[in-house]
Amino acid sequence: MDEHHYLIRGGIAGRERMRVVGRVMRPTTLRLLERVGVTSGMRCLDVGCGAGEVTFDLASLVGITGHVVGVDLDETKLDLARGDAEQAEVGNVEFRLGDVGGGLGQEEYDVVYARFLLTHVPDPEGVLQLMIDAAKPGGEVVVEDIDYGGTFDHPTTDEFDRYREIYVEAARVNGGDALIGRRLPLMMTRAGLERVEVEVVQPSGLEGEVTVIPALTLENIKATAVRHEVASGDEVDRVVDALYSIARDPEAFVASPRIVQVWGRKPGVATVGPSGRP
Ligand SMILES: C[S@@+](CC[C@H](N)C(=O)[O-])C[C@H]1O[C@@H](n2cnc3c(N)ncnc32)[C@H](O)[C@@H]1O
Repeated sequence: MDEHHYLIRGGIAGRERMRVVGRVMRPTTLRLLERVGVTSGMRCLDVGCGAGEVTFDLASLVGITGHVVGVDLDETKLDLARGDAEQAEVGNVEFRLGDVGGGLGQEEYDVVYARFLLTHVPDPEGVLQLMIDAAKPGGEVVVEDIDYGGTFDHPTTDEFDRYREIYVEAARVNGGDALIGRRLPLMMTRAGLERVEVEVVQPSGLEGEVTVIPALTLENIKATAVRHEVASGDEVDRVVDALYSIARDPEAFVASPRIVQVWGRKPGVATVGPSGRP
């Protein structure tokens, strides 16, 4: 899959949106990584790492005795991430260019993680299997992804409802599933993972960056939505303007998509490094 077929605009513009999303999601992602038991000395893989928003947090959790690999197909974002790693002198991360479909290695990692990736791929079960293959026996496979059915504003506006509709449909015609979150627990259990645990989080607020994410997201999927005739460019622009007004309104409450966090253990006995759970 090349960037042309990726739902959300990539490169520098895409990275800026992911920075906002990354800041909003960081507290709940850090709590997830803590619950999973990511700790010093581990080897981790961040699949669909983008510009490394979570890769760098994984790197600081595993410390200098650990190692983190980030994989993505967007070379621009990876270059920016490599630049950030160099500037901050983070020596235990490595960013590799690649499509997940090409495989992720065999039994190499204590933790294999993906955030907001499976929603975009046409064969999420297949990608999950590749993630499981890459985990060591006893290793943890961790996924967090969206369920767009849960995003809302209050007081409700037609424009926000239309935004949700455009996103879900644009994802669908592009081969993805914007409602994948609700499918993840069963998908991971059926894939053979043990001790599967689930948490649902939903960043929301009357103000702050969380309220701007809908406008930024719709701006970034405009090309895909128009290309697939899900909406006209004029309609997208009109809805984006309305979403920015909602973001500026201190009396408008905005709830992001629900994020379903699921993690489970690959069967087998951990041979090297901490397993994260007894
Ligand atoms: C929404 S971003 C999430 C980035 C990062 N995981 C985060 O949460 O900040 C999804 C990322 O998945 C990447 N991606 C999509 N399909 C991919 C594929 N088939 N192989 C590798 N990366 C892919 C995109 O390039 C993009 O950077």
